[in-house]
Amino acid sequence: MAEPVRVCVTGAAGQIGYSLVYMVGSGAVFGPDTPVILHLLDIAPMMNVLNGVCMEISDCALPCVRDVVATDDPAVAFKDIDCAFLVGAMPRKEGMERKDLLAANVKIFKVQGQALDQYAKKSVKVLVVGNPANTNALICAKYAPSIPRENFSAMTRLDQNRAQAQIAAKLGIPVTDVKNVIIWGNHSSTQFPDVRHATATVNGEEIPVYDAIKDDAFLKNEFITLVQKRGGAVIAARKLSSAMSAAKAACDHVKSIFQGTKEGHFVSMGVFSDGSYNTPEGVMYSFPVTIKDKKWSIVQGLPIEDFAREKMDKTAKELCEERDEAIAVCQD
Ligand code: NAI
Repeated sequence: MAEPVRVCVTGAAGQIGYSLVYMVGSGAVFGPDTPVILHLLDIAPMMNVLNGVCMEISDCALPCVRDVVATDDPAVAFKDIDCAFLVGAMPRKEGMERKDLLAANVKIFKVQGQALDQYAKKSVKVLVVGNPANTNALICAKYAPSIPRENFSAMTRLDQNRAQAQIAAKLGIPVTDVKNVIIWGNHSSTQFPDVRHATATVNGEEIPVYDAIKDDAFLKNEFITLVQKRGGAVIAARKLSSAMSAAKAACDHVKSIFQGTKEGHFVSMGVFSDGSYNTPEGVMYSFPVTIKDKKWSIVQGLPIEDFAREKMDKTAKELCEERDEAIAVCQD
């Protein structure tokens, strides 16, 4: 068996955490032959609940789980970790403005960045799930200057999975037969789900999704809105936000980082913009990336039509506004 991987999940007593710790413990991310030591962090009032989660992890008798550390102390949670799923964040409360939520949550990610800087391995890979995910990731990296900023990313994989599944359903093909769907920009309602560069395998032939669906109006309107508003639709139906699918997407994201992407495939994640595709440098923008040896590269050279440009700029503008607000809040 390989050396154990130390994996931290924050917000481990929450909804996403409940599905996520099982998936990580089952070997779905690091492989069935890699033992994991789970570091579970939540806030002090949730320690009883977290204890219940620990009991259930034990009762799952998962062969990959070597040990579990449950704590409300980031110093303990982040000690020597190889990977962090930063899920824990304050939920939006009734009457709370988006601005207030951003202020509360970026402060959490500032503190966690400082703790990662101090206690985690310098090679740690950090996925931010807690919202506003892109901007939280940016702040977290900013306050962890000793960790390479490429090691931080934000989750838009759920949006990618949603988009891919919608296309597969529309074509009546397995989800694995749709590839290279892109999510550009922010994990918010301004995100741009783009299938211009995606392909579908139909009757054994790989063809552009636009040619397979033959309905430009659908792809440029209904499809985009459906993906952008899917989170709200789940809340309306479940009275709770997406959790199982968010946990699965977080696992897919981290698996892509640790195991790389397949030849000819790319995935979407929020990473620091280097100005590619005329996006504002320094914000955490979701791009199509390929990954090798745990390093991502933004896919270059995709032609961008005017329709896409406008949407990419709109979500970029929102990210710049969030960044400016977040930096101001952290300086208070
Ligand atoms: P939840 O409210 O069920 O769980 C959040 C957990 O985080 C709670 O147990 C809470 O006590 C804990 N927490 C709060 N502050 C913390 C801190 N400072 N340190 C450690 N733990 C802390 O929420 P849920 O449904 O699990 O969602 C978590 C986050 O993920 C939310 O911000 C949500 O908006 C976001 N999300 C992001 C998605 C994405 O695609 N990027 C998709 C779905 C959810």
